[in-house]
Amino acid sequence: MKNYRAIADTYRDDLQSYYDQDESRQLFLLAFSHITGMKSAQFGLMQQSTPNSAMTEQFLSILAELATGRPIQHILGKADFYGESFYVNAHTLIPRPETEELVDLIIRNHPDSGLRVLDVGTGSGCIAISLAKHLSGSTVSAIDISADAVAVARRNADHLEVDVQFVIADILEWDLILQADQQFDIIVSNPPYITPKEQAEMHPNVLRHEPHTALFVEEHNPLLFYNAIADLAKVHLAVGGVLYFEINQYLGPETVDLLQKKGFTSVELLQDINGADRMIRASIKN
Ligand SMILES: C[S@@+](CC[C@H](N)C(=O)[O-])C[C@H]1O[C@@H](n2cnc3c(N)ncnc32)[C@H](O)[C@@H]1O
Repeated sequence: MKNYRAIADTYRDDLQSYYDQDESRQLFLLAFSHITGMKSAQFGLMQQSTPNSAMTEQFLSILAELATGRPIQHILGKADFYGESFYVNAHTLIPRPETEELVDLIIRNHPDSGLRVLDVGTGSGCIAISLAKHLSGSTVSAIDISADAVAVARRNADHLEVDVQFVIADILEWDLILQADQQFDIIVSNPPYITPKEQAEMHPNVLRHEPHTALFVEEHNPLLFYNAIADLAKVHLAVGGVLYFEINQYLGPETVDLLQKKGFTSVELLQDINGADRMIRASIKN
């Protein structure tokens, strides 16, 4: 029987064609925590121990699936986001660390309670649910075109014990969805923003396993969703309200320009932890 160290080495060797050493180490550690219930930091102490045969089988079955290119989050059925575990499946984008940065920015900027929040393109519900959990007394609504994604988001909201109103609708027809007088203090969106040309840069796993409706926009109209959501925000953002976007890192200035042309007077382009243009905070000062 192999000890944990040897199993970690097998992960590294067998996953070479899909992942570099750091990535396969992270994947092993996620499997380690999932199977043993221990924190990944405990691996160091456990390296020389040997898991029982049922656990060893679980390690190997996860490895076999990883070797087909299936993302670990789909294999385990969950992804960590902002301190919580979210159910995910093939219908939802796997929540990304950049999006955690956006959520953190919003939470830090809004200590006030009782805010009305709208999340557009909610996917697994990770943004809406994290905001509902951390913005005290908030009322959160979330929209997605995918009924399958909304089913997952609803399951996450139940499991994490927050109240979010989910709506299945096409945001490009936003004027048919919202009541004319509905107002929000925060509108947030991480909409699809990857152009077909950028596919070449993407990990094959993402392309094969994550929903394309969550990822891609047409080459000739990469800001389609930003344009529609900015129009929505102009009508439905309350006085003093703020619009937050996660953006395509290559389209920062263009997205800022679009918002300024629409009449947003304060538009800030913010960088993620890797220094890439990744977030926008915009409002209309009277
Ligand atoms: C990039 S994903 C973001 C998911 C989640 N908010 C997150 O940050 O992980 C974009 C989401 O927008 C949804 N979407 C795509 N087109 C849409 C449309 N026309 N109207 C509403 N939602 C749409 C997709 O189904 C997907 O869940």
